[in-house]
Amino acid sequence: MPTSFASGSTASPVPDEAGPHGREGADRLARIQRRFAEFAAEYAALPLYSTLCRHLARDAEAASLLIAARPGQARPVLWLAALHELVLRRPDMPAARWYPSVVGHDAVPHGDPWPDVRRAVLEHRDELVERIATHGTQTNEVNRAVYVAVGLAVAAADVAGTPVALVELGASAGLLLGVDRYAVDLVGAERTLTLCDPASPVRCSGIDRAEVGAQLDAGPGLPPVVARVGLDLSPVDLDDEDAVRWLEACLWPDVPGRVERFRSARALLRTDPPVVLAGDLVDDIDRAVRRAREAPGPDAHVVVMSSWALTYVAAPRRLELETRLRTLARDVPALSWLTAEPPGCAPGIAADDVREDGGGTVVAVRRWRGARDLEPVVLGTCNPHGQWIDLNVGARDNRTS
Ligand SMILES: C[S@@+](CC[C@H](N)C(=O)[O-])C[C@H]1O[C@@H](n2cnc3c(N)ncnc32)[C@H](O)[C@@H]1O
Repeated sequence: MPTSFASGSTASPVPDEAGPHGREGADRLARIQRRFAEFAAEYAALPLYSTLCRHLARDAEAASLLIAARPGQARPVLWLAALHELVLRRPDMPAARWYPSVVGHDAVPHGDPWPDVRRAVLEHRDELVERIATHGTQTNEVNRAVYVAVGLAVAAADVAGTPVALVELGASAGLLLGVDRYAVDLVGAERTLTLCDPASPVRCSGIDRAEVGAQLDAGPGLPPVVARVGLDLSPVDLDDEDAVRWLEACLWPDVPGRVERFRSARALLRTDPPVVLAGDLVDDIDRAVRRAREAPGPDAHVVVMSSWALTYVAAPRRLELETRLRTLARDVPALSWLTAEPPGCAPGIAADDVREDGGGTVVAVRRWRGARDLEPVVLGTCNPHGQWIDLNVGARDNRTS
């Protein structure tokens, strides 16, 4: 075995030709290390994560923890999340001082974090491997409220004032269900429009490339959200410290504001947490909609939304969901389906309707009003974390005129 690990050396070669995991393991490890090198290059602007990945690309022993990952999960972000979770749980360990999410962005020292981080990897190897073997990463990004708020305003434009029962598919901890409780800044060239609750302690913000703020300002605004129900295969209870810490660990500590926003949203929603049901987003959609309509009654405008969740289910299942929603619409006077998903993912939303500008997230609305299936509204694209939006609330009118 390499003896250099405890000494903090950054070069630990695989000990023999095949390595301790055999030829297949050696190949896999080589692939893993290439992915660390690619991550370091792609995210060179992230001081901590690019540095760690640069070292991991050359440090076979530290990188090898990722061999324990489940099939398809051996990605650098899983290794990084496992380490992040460890320092969030053990803020006293030397490695933690390099994490802005632990000590604050201004308190991170200058220098190379690798010796401390490497030591932490060595000392906690077993628990890190266990976590890598049993977990996957997922992004719960509260700043997605930027595009959700705009989509909600568009979905409700023709039924303004009707109370909304909001249903989120793939809701995880349900943080996006609190969209109307956050302050959502749309930062335009001329001015900033704040949607939802300007006094909220949770601030979300996105550059408004198409001046959607001005268009929304002239419209009826956001509808009142009176019920919120999430649906997820593995809902996360906001009171479950371990589960919430893992979601936090999946966020990148290098990006200022992300972890802080997550924490403040959690604190706010814990005072009145949304219901998140355990279930499949296709098989259990009826149950979720029924639950959401319980309190407001049958006249509520039901808005079903999905943000980076449909993409996890196979294409035929997405079509099944569309069929189920169409069936539900016979019984719901106003039903809308707000999707923020990769191009080509949401049924009925033509990918060629949007210009691909690197955002990777297409925001669109389907609407059923009584017996009528209205024409889909493709709003445009945005950054997957809501950092910018290129949405146009008049998109449908423009397209059909
Ligand atoms: C990337 S997270 C998105 C969380 C949240 N929607 C957001 O945008 O921040 C995707 C979520 O979808 C859930 N999910 C994946 N497949 C699902 C399915 N078939 N039914 C219900 N939830 C599912 C996962 O458990 C995970 O919580």
